[in-house]
Amino acid sequence: MSTLSLPSVVVIGAGTMGHGIAQVAAVAGHAVTLVDASPAALERAVAKVGQSLDKLVEKGKLGAEAAAGARARLGVAAGVEDAVAGAGIVVEAIPENLEWKKALFARVDAAAPSGALLGTNTSSLSIGAIAAAVRDPSRVIGLHFFNPVPLMSLLEVVVHDAVSDDARARALAFGAGLGKECIVVRDLPGFATSRLGVALGMEAIRMVEDGVASAEDIDKAMVLGYRHPVGPLRLTDMVGLDVRLAIGEHLAATLGNPAFTPPRLMREMVAAGQLGQKSGQGFYRW
Ligand code: CAA
Ligand code: NAD
Repeated sequence: MSTLSLPSVVVIGAGTMGHGIAQVAAVAGHAVTLVDASPAALERAVAKVGQSLDKLVEKGKLGAEAAAGARARLGVAAGVEDAVAGAGIVVEAIPENLEWKKALFARVDAAAPSGALLGTNTSSLSIGAIAAAVRDPSRVIGLHFFNPVPLMSLLEVVVHDAVSDDARARALAFGAGLGKECIVVRDLPGFATSRLGVALGMEAIRMVEDGVASAEDIDKAMVLGYRHPVGPLRLTDMVGLDVRLAIGEHLAATLGNPAFTPPRLMREMVAAGQLGQKSGQGFYRW
C-alpha cells in the first residue's frame, strides 16, 4: 500500500508509551502528530524518538533513509482539538485514570472527524466505560501496545460489546501495518496481558517486603530459572511504579482478587517519587 493512502495518526500523551507509538507509526509511513499537555514532555519525547531511531539504525534494524523519513513525518502539538481535527486514527496514551481518559475522549469526539478511529492504550481500564464518553462508542477500541514499543511485537486489540466490525478491522490493519502481531481480547479487566503480568509483579514486590531475597536475586530467579527476558522488578521499573500502582488498584477492585492489591512498599516508593526508569530510581538505579 502506498504510504500516501495511510491514515494520519494523532497520539495523545507523549510519555513512556506515547513517544514509542508515535515513532512506530511514523516509521510505518503515517503522518503523525504527538500531543501532550506538557511542553517539556514533548521535548523529551522527541529526543527519545531520535535516540531510538539512531539506535535502530546503528544496529542495522532500520535504514538511515527510513529513519529520516520517520523524523520528517513526526510533528508535535500542544492543543488536542487542533491536532485531531484532520485525524484518521487517534491513539490516547495519557495516565491510567478513567475520569481523565473519559474527559479527553469527550474532547476528541467533539473535534475529530466522525470517521476517525479512536484507540486507547489503557493497560487495564474498561474500554466500554471509556467509549461511553463519546457519541458513537462503536468507533472506540483498545489498542494496547507494549513497552518499549519499537521492540515489542504484540498489539492487544481489546473489543468491547458495542465496537463495530469496521473499527475492529481498521485496528487490526493498523497494527499489521506497524509490524505488530495482533491478538483480539474481550474487554475484561486487565485483558490477556496485564492480568497475568501485574499479578507476577505485585507478588515479586511482596517477596522483597518479606525479605525472600534481594530485588536482583528475585529477578535473577525468573530470568535464569524461568527464562523471562527481564525479571518482574526490573520490568516494574521499566513500566513505571506509578503506572503499575494504578493498574493494580483497578484490578484489585474490579476482579476482587487481593493478589493485585499494591503492596505497602510500592505505595511508599511512589510517594517518595521512586517511579523506576523514568525518575532514575526504583528497585534499581537507572
Ligand atoms: N528503541 C531502540 N532501541 C532500544 C529501545 C528503544 N525504545 N529500548 C532499548 N533499546 C536497546 C537498548 O539500548 C539495548 O541496546 P544495546 O544492545 O546497544 O545496549 C538493546 O535495545 C537491548 O537489547 P538486549 O539485547 O538487552 O535485549 P533484546 O534486544 O534481546 O530485548 C527487550 C530487548 C525486547 C526490550 C527485552 O529486554 C524484553 O523483552 N524486555 C521485557 C519487555 C516487556 O516485558 N515489556 C512489557 C512491559 S508491560 C507493558 O508494556 C504493558 C503495560 O500495560 C504496562
Ligand atoms: P506517562 O506518565 O509516561 O505519560 C503520560 C503523558 O500524558 C505525560 O507526558 C502527561 O504529560 C500526558 N498527559 C496527561 N494528561 C494529558 C492530557 N489530558 N492531554 C495530553 N497529555 C496528557 O504514562 P505511560 O506510562 O506512557 O502510560 C500511558 C498509558 O499507557 C496508561 O494508560 C498506561 O496504563 C498505558 N501503558 C503503559 C505502559 C508502560 O509500560 N508504561 C505499557 C502499556 C500501556
